[in-house]
Amino acid sequence: MKVTVVGAGAVGATCADNIARKELCQELVLLDIKEGIAEGKAQDMMQTATLLGFDTKISGSTNDYSKTAGSDVVVITSGLPRKPGMTREELIGVNAGIVKGVCENILKHSPNAIIIVISNPMDTMTYLALQSTGLPKHRIIGMGGTLDSSRFKYQLSQHLGCSPSDLNAVVVGGHGDTTMIPLIRHATWNSAPVSDFLSAEQQEKIVKDTMVGGATLTALIGTSAWYAPGAAGAALVEAILRDEKKLFTCCVSLDGEYGQKDICLGVPVIIGKNGWEKIIDFKLNESEQAAFDKCAAAVRSMNDVLKTL
Ligand code: LAC
Repeated sequence: MKVTVVGAGAVGATCADNIARKELCQELVLLDIKEGIAEGKAQDMMQTATLLGFDTKISGSTNDYSKTAGSDVVVITSGLPRKPGMTREELIGVNAGIVKGVCENILKHSPNAIIIVISNPMDTMTYLALQSTGLPKHRIIGMGGTLDSSRFKYQLSQHLGCSPSDLNAVVVGGHGDTTMIPLIRHATWNSAPVSDFLSAEQQEKIVKDTMVGGATLTALIGTSAWYAPGAAGAALVEAILRDEKKLFTCCVSLDGEYGQKDICLGVPVIIGKNGWEKIIDFKLNESEQAAFDKCAAAVRSMNDVLKTL
């Protein structure tokens, strides 16, 4: 198995690090447009191999896509991260051109790859990847909901005083501060609804803090977060390469599911060797569906910006 991570910034490097530690593939290529950075980080990671006990061969390349040839999965993290005070949406102008170019180059050398999109604004970049490559929809997966659901479980665990691993909770909709929909009604602590243990005020706070989870970290760190985004990307790579059939919320192309079409949005999907294999219907109630439709309208207007670039 071979995986490529495009973009050797903090998110890409963390994603690669997680993939190597889990030995998900024999060969891992880290690629970046900036001279030397991918080679340097790849070597740094390889120098952890005997310490961490993994056998994955990591190599780095400055923009030589021939090195990525024959990749089974490609993770795209390229583009600018946001700065404090910025929305993910403000990155569209620069990142659209970058993501489109990366997709073209990747497919020249890995025509059968499954593509995971992390670059922001993630919902629109996923849509762009699908439109510009014309690949079968199951091979294009936006990572956002996987990360946001993990952040949602973290927030819940802080209020419940429990292990995040004992929680089941998903965020659907978009990967924007105002388009995320943490489905708290569906969230459970082992099998008990979390609403049995949390006041309405606590639930409201958890939902709000989840939605601005990325922005909160950007304000603290001074740039976009990377540990959880990188780990979320690696978790999807793992589910594909191990054909896990695990349920994640991912940004995928909708064709009538959840009442939407011609758009990529976060919904619960099964991830396995074919990419996203099936959308699961969580039966939203009226207000959740209204929030989903509102989120779709916001993402659609962002997608329309692509036509003007
Ligand atoms: C975040 C970026 C990856 O939410 O969108 O941290």
